[in-house]
Amino acid sequence: MYKLIKPLLFKYDPEKAHGMTINALKLVQKYPQTLPLVKQFFHYENDILNQVISGVTFSNPIGLAAGFDKSCEVPKALESAGFGSIELGGITPKPQPGNPKPRMYRLVEDQALINRMGFNNLGMNKALSNLRKYSYTLPIGLNVGVNKNTPYDARYQDYIKVLDTFKNDVTFFTVNISSPNTENLQKFHDESEFSQLCSAIETFKNEENIDVPIFIKLTSDLDTESLGHMLPSITQTFDGIILANTTQQRDGLQSENRIETGGLSGRPLFERNISLIKHAYKETNGTFTIIGTGGIFTVDDVITMLRSGASLVQIYSSLVFEGPGLTRKLNKALAQYLNSNGYNNVQEIIGLDA
Ligand SMILES: Cc1cc2nc3c(=O)[nH]c(=O)nc-3n(C[C@H](O)[C@H](O)[C@H](O)COP(=O)(O)O)c2cc1C
Repeated sequence: MYKLIKPLLFKYDPEKAHGMTINALKLVQKYPQTLPLVKQFFHYENDILNQVISGVTFSNPIGLAAGFDKSCEVPKALESAGFGSIELGGITPKPQPGNPKPRMYRLVEDQALINRMGFNNLGMNKALSNLRKYSYTLPIGLNVGVNKNTPYDARYQDYIKVLDTFKNDVTFFTVNISSPNTENLQKFHDESEFSQLCSAIETFKNEENIDVPIFIKLTSDLDTESLGHMLPSITQTFDGIILANTTQQRDGLQSENRIETGGLSGRPLFERNISLIKHAYKETNGTFTIIGTGGIFTVDDVITMLRSGASLVQIYSSLVFEGPGLTRKLNKALAQYLNSNGYNNVQEIIGLDA
């Protein structure tokens, strides 16, 4: 079916096509009687895919990555799309329009996207009221960012404001310090900035008695040595690590629009992120939760990421190229792989090749 729709969608500017997809999902959400039908198309259930991570049950390891539903507009529709979890956002305290358009590009020859959205979102209050319109049966994560106009020294507070606002409404948080499209955000990867951020989050967790897991999402442009330096603070403050967000590298790309600035996602990210995941897994002796993202298109990619040390994975770009049927396809093929190789569950393959 997506094979028929894709040429039409690809005629439009990528952000416009994305907007059309969100509108279609809004329609589905408006008529809840359609949800079971959607579920029938996209869901694949098999106990072999279940996992409990940080106290949260994930019915399968394929999650929707952040950035797809920036303002929590269609979570109920997404719940029926076959994911084991969905990460909404990035959300900032105040609404903001993001960067001027166009700001999203398809690199068809490279099966990649470039985006410089700049945390366009309706702000935390509107996003929360959107989220509260429904109840959910799968883990709902929230990706947290910083407003463009927040003064440099007050940026920690932006994270805390959003965490505080959503603390009773989501299953996990992701502190995003890795978007390349907000000036200075990636400076949080520097030692002193990072330790200040960690203290602010620890203070918040203690004062508010937070038991919602908080993950941290790092940039793909980190080298393994720098990752190694950050890991002791990460394991002390956070419940898991997402490796990794987009890259600003443009090596080996074919597509003409590779010159656009912004974060590159999709196929070219895969190998880079695998090496970060393996490194984090080894350095933490397999004891720390790793969520892998970047360039997953096939079940072999999922298996490679799990075997490299990720317990869960997240996808975005491949949905643009392969369509929404991908989630079911990946889950079904993963269950088949586990069964036919004599594994009893997903956990048994995590880190085998790290
Ligand atoms: C249009 C777009 C917007 C994104 N927005 C966010 C965001 O707000 N926060 C975030 O942490 N990651 C964001 N990402 C990154 C994705 O969550 C994901 O980590 C990255 O695209 C790598 O996965 P993929 O190769 O499967 O796309 C965005 C990606 C795209 C393509």
